[in-house]
Amino acid sequence: MQFFIDTANLSEIKEANDMGILDGVTTNPSLMAKEGITGKENILAHYVAICNIVDGPVSAEVIATDFEGMVREGEQLAALHKNIVVKIPMIPEGIKAIKYFSGKGIRTNCTLIFSAGQALLAAKAGATYISPFLGRLDDVSTDGIALIEQIRTIYDNYLFDTEILAASIRHPMHIIHCAEIGADVMTGPLSAIKALAKHPLTDLGLQQFLADHAKGNQ
Ligand code: E4P
Repeated sequence: MQFFIDTANLSEIKEANDMGILDGVTTNPSLMAKEGITGKENILAHYVAICNIVDGPVSAEVIATDFEGMVREGEQLAALHKNIVVKIPMIPEGIKAIKYFSGKGIRTNCTLIFSAGQALLAAKAGATYISPFLGRLDDVSTDGIALIEQIRTIYDNYLFDTEILAASIRHPMHIIHCAEIGADVMTGPLSAIKALAKHPLTDLGLQQFLADHAKGNQ
């Protein structure tokens, strides 16, 4: 299972990368705005800064919602760095754009996936990744993990190459459930990734080992 971090915050990206377990990064326009990155030149420069930290796929989202605009923006984003994956929204024009990029060998991440039908369409168009937003589904009392499971079955039935990138992860149990089901990738906040390491018995055990060592080595 690949681990991506879902942020545009450079210090969080560096921290996760320094842990040695980071495979890639996802961003979106809201995450860029949260970091105060505005204006086209600054946004493009920020993507390059992220690519220079992490040696893996970095999703950069188009703002246009028409086919021509998505193609124009996506080509510009893809030319920035070899790590860039063009993130395209799940709308009819987006499906056309994914098909176009797939024909050009440009990797795509189809975002804002909330149903199995959307996942099927994106895979047929040749998306490299699809991002089902499981946390946002859970937020509206719909089982996000069940959707990931359904998509896994469909993709396995037809041997689609499209990778399931479980997104909108909120906590460590989301990551564990995704791993059980066989999501190819998960993208989550640094807090959820770090929470995987935590266990009170680990802390207690370590405390005891160090105390016993100290007693015998006074
Ligand atoms: C995915 O690519 C999105 O950037 C992200 O996971 C959305 O997460 P949120 O629901 O926490 O905003």
